[in-house]
Amino acid sequence: MALSDFERYPLTFGPSPVHRLDRLTAHLGGATIWAKREDVSSGLAFGGNKTRKLEYIVPDILACGADTLVSIGGYQSNHTRQVAAVAAKLGLRARLVQEKWVDWPDAVNDKVGNILLSRLMGAEVTLHPAGFDIGIRSSWQEAISEVEDAGGVPYAIPAGASEHKYGGLGFANWAYEVQQQEEELGVFFDTIVVCTVTGSTHAGMVAGFAGQDQPRQVLGIDASATIEKTREQVARIARNTAELISLGRDLRDDEITVLEGWAGDLYGVPVESTVEAMRTSAQLEGMIIDPVYEGKSMAGLIDLVSSGRIGRESNVLYAHLGGQPALNAYSGIL
Ligand SMILES: Cc1ncc(COP(=O)(O)O)c(C=O)c1O
Repeated sequence: MALSDFERYPLTFGPSPVHRLDRLTAHLGGATIWAKREDVSSGLAFGGNKTRKLEYIVPDILACGADTLVSIGGYQSNHTRQVAAVAAKLGLRARLVQEKWVDWPDAVNDKVGNILLSRLMGAEVTLHPAGFDIGIRSSWQEAISEVEDAGGVPYAIPAGASEHKYGGLGFANWAYEVQQQEEELGVFFDTIVVCTVTGSTHAGMVAGFAGQDQPRQVLGIDASATIEKTREQVARIARNTAELISLGRDLRDDEITVLEGWAGDLYGVPVESTVEAMRTSAQLEGMIIDPVYEGKSMAGLIDLVSSGRIGRESNVLYAHLGGQPALNAYSGIL
C-alpha cells in the first residue's frame, strides 16, 4: 500500500505552517533557518506531533468499536494530553497512566500544564511511581486489563504512539507535505532538525523522505538520554514504516542519524544549553519551546549551525513539535 492509501482522520487544520526565522538566522551567522510548526496546526488542546500521528490511528480506533483510549507517559506527557483531546473529540473515554518519568522539584509538576489539561478534558488520570522508559510498560498493560474487566472496550496507544503499527505514518506524510511546501516556497531544505525520544516522529520522516531520493539529511536530536534505546527504536520504526508504505527498498544505516550531546544526563531535566536555547528562541523570534524536548533539539541546531557543522549554504528546517504546556510545570528554571 502507498501512504495515500491509508485512511486519515483529520485532526489538524491542514499542512502545518512553514516560516523563516530571520533573527535567529542572523544571530547564528550561518545557515538559513526555517521552522515547520506542529504546535499551531490543530485546534485540539494546543496540538503537537502526536495529533498528526493520531490522524492515521483514529480510523483503526473507530473500526475496532473501542470506547476507551488507554495510553501512557510521564506526568507532563504531551502525548497523553493529545490522546485526551482526541478522546474528547470522538466522544470516547481516556484512561491515562502518568508515570514519574522526571524527578523534577516544582511543587505543582503533577498538577499544572499537560496533566491539568488532560483532567480538564475529562480523562481518568492515574499517577504511577515508575521512572522513565520508552518501552512497553506493565502499568499500561494493567490499565488495559482494568478497562476490559470493567466491561469496556479499550484501544491501546503506547507511549508517544510510537510502537503502534501506524505510529510512523503521520510523519511520513509530513515529508510529502514538506516537498509540496518547498515547491510553493521555491526553497529546498537540505537539513531537517527534529527532536527524538520514543522515535516515530523522526522515523516517519526518514521513511517518507526516503521515497523522494533527494540530497537531504534528517538529523534527530536525542532528548531521551537513553541513546541506544532511542537509536534502536527509531531504526526499527523507520524500517517498519518504510515497508508499510511500500518504499520498495531497505533503508540504509546512513539515512538514520540520531545525534547525542544536548539531552544532558536525564530525560526531562533541562541543562544550561536547553534553557539558553529556550531564551534565544523566545527573545529573537517570540517562538516558545519547552524544556523537555524542543529546548534540547534547538540547542543542537544552535550548536550545529554556529560551529559550521551544518554549512552556511544550507537551508535548515526545524521541526517544532509542540510541547509548550509543560512550561508551567517548570517555573523553577527561570
Ligand atoms: C514536544 C515534543 N517534541 C518531541 C517529542 C519526541 O517525539 P517522539 O516521541 O516521536 O520521538 C515529543 C514526544 O515524545 C514531544 O511531545
